[in-house]
Amino acid sequence: MPQNDKLDELRKTIDEIDRQLIPLFVRRMEISERVAEVKKETGLPVLDAEREKQIVGRAISIAGTDFGGDAAALMRAILSLSRARQEKAFDRDDGRKKPKITVINGPNLNMLGRREPEKYGSMSLEQINAMILSEADMLGVECDFFQSNVEGELVTAIQNAAEAKGIILNAGAYTHYSVAIRDAIAAVGAPVIEVHLTNVHAREEFRRTSMLSAVCKGVIAGFGPYGYVLALRALAGGG
Ligand code: DQA
Repeated sequence: MPQNDKLDELRKTIDEIDRQLIPLFVRRMEISERVAEVKKETGLPVLDAEREKQIVGRAISIAGTDFGGDAAALMRAILSLSRARQEKAFDRDDGRKKPKITVINGPNLNMLGRREPEKYGSMSLEQINAMILSEADMLGVECDFFQSNVEGELVTAIQNAAEAKGIILNAGAYTHYSVAIRDAIAAVGAPVIEVHLTNVHAREEFRRTSMLSAVCKGVIAGFGPYGYVLALRALAGGG
């Protein structure tokens, strides 16, 4: 293989790794902030030196002998960024707490990017969530994310989000037959927007029926990952 092709191929692999790494980093920081909020509620300090030591130690053992030192350095850098975020979250005035929107995805949506990409596109769920988070940042709202392949877990996630400003829900195939998810939506006060990546009305007959639409605030289908962003804007705007 000519040298240039080889370089291109290696760089492509690195780009692909970064595309997975960065959303994971963003998610880690986001969860760190939530940890700080819980610490504040329970009266614990932000800094937990013992836990940081454990995290660095774990990074070394996962990376192994060759990369252990570098993994430790990377983890220390992440911990320092995360501590700065935590301190901010810790000091945040509760009165100015941002409204929260919960994003719930159902069965097989954890496979996005690999699952029938001609229909569902090439973005992974982590990438879609990272896109939602950056939009949320601009809109001044907070998002949390949940995915499950299990119907009952989706019901519980909807119940848990009852106090949210809104819920964005792609219930996947459960959309078409789950009375339990419909009842959960009807039971909570938060407005729910039903989202589908594909235009379910232009597909098989059975996908035209939604058990959920009648109890949702609105439905967005056919715009791929952008549908989640549209739903976020609608909910953040109070619509
Ligand atoms: C989907 C459409 C559903 O019919 C299907 O079962 C899914 C994904 C969509 O996002 O287009 O899993 O909800």
